[in-house]
Amino acid sequence: AFNLRNRNFLKLLDFTPEEIKHLLKLSADLKAAKYAGTEQPRMKGKNIALIFEKSSTRTRCAFEVAAHDQGANVTYLGPSGSQIGHKESMKDTARVLGRMYDGIEYRGFGQDIVEELGKYAGVPVWNGLTNEFHPTQILADFLTMMEHTDKPLSEVKFAYLGDARNNMGNSLMVGAAKMGMDFRAAAPAASQPSEELQNVCREIAKETGAKITVTDNVAEAVKDCDFLYTDVWVSMGEPEEVWAERIELLKPYQVNSEVLKMTGNPNVKFLHCLPAFHNRETKVGEDIYQKFGLEAMEVTEDVFESSASIVFDEAENRMHTIKAIMVATLGQ
Ligand code: CP
Ligand code: NVA
Repeated sequence: AFNLRNRNFLKLLDFTPEEIKHLLKLSADLKAAKYAGTEQPRMKGKNIALIFEKSSTRTRCAFEVAAHDQGANVTYLGPSGSQIGHKESMKDTARVLGRMYDGIEYRGFGQDIVEELGKYAGVPVWNGLTNEFHPTQILADFLTMMEHTDKPLSEVKFAYLGDARNNMGNSLMVGAAKMGMDFRAAAPAASQPSEELQNVCREIAKETGAKITVTDNVAEAVKDCDFLYTDVWVSMGEPEEVWAERIELLKPYQVNSEVLKMTGNPNVKFLHCLPAFHNRETKVGEDIYQKFGLEAMEVTEDVFESSASIVFDEAENRMHTIKAIMVATLGQ
């Protein structure tokens, strides 16, 4: 019924609610087939380029494993070692790679760059994260929510706390609007999604029945929520100097056990796209913890390690959902 063949996957705004639901269903089907050992390779003989101008664990591995499961071959182009971003325009890169590859993943900086790649490649281009959007992540997040609730997505209430102006805050709001969800962003004014994107989402919400709330009030945002979501306070590509002001701004939006209680829902679940900057015991970012004398950043260790946390189901689902995007746009 849905033909997504040869389509780019650059941002959720380009897709109808029905198309997004179709991708979620295909993800669940491909996951079930892999578990049952009945997966059929639908990308045999396809060649895929993976461009990463920023670091990645999940997204790169998800694309590589998904491609392998489906019979395709990948080439990884890292932040250095190719001409991309240094000596050759994206328009030319697109036309070169489009002559050799059947599909291209791009992770990098501005959304305009992946849009340019998508315009000139002549083969499907998939957005593996830009400064503005992280659309493949949202499919994994929604699949994970579906696996952890009996409600349809249109009845799910969830809150995103922290830097709601980053790629995750933006894309979750768009995804929620498309799926008719009750979405709340809890962030100080400086970290709220732009007025422009909020307006776009409120227009979509009129069609889908979604509810979009953007507030600086944590208690209001989390009340009765089924899911709480957060992300790092400083994203890839942002300068070290922003840490001080971000911590000051976002400290009140940390996800901790108090915030879980404030939902009033004993079954509330916690999501995080990962990587998490979560605890000084891990020694990750120790210099920053020391400098600011903090015990935790966006999420506390007890919440992250609690039974409410479904972050590793979510991480696994990156692979099944990315596979669905590739199969739908490129598969036989
Ligand atoms: N969630 C996510 O995109 O993780 P990576 O940066 O490891 O790909
Ligand atoms: N907002 C984060 C997401 C990482 C998956 C970043 O862009 O670094």
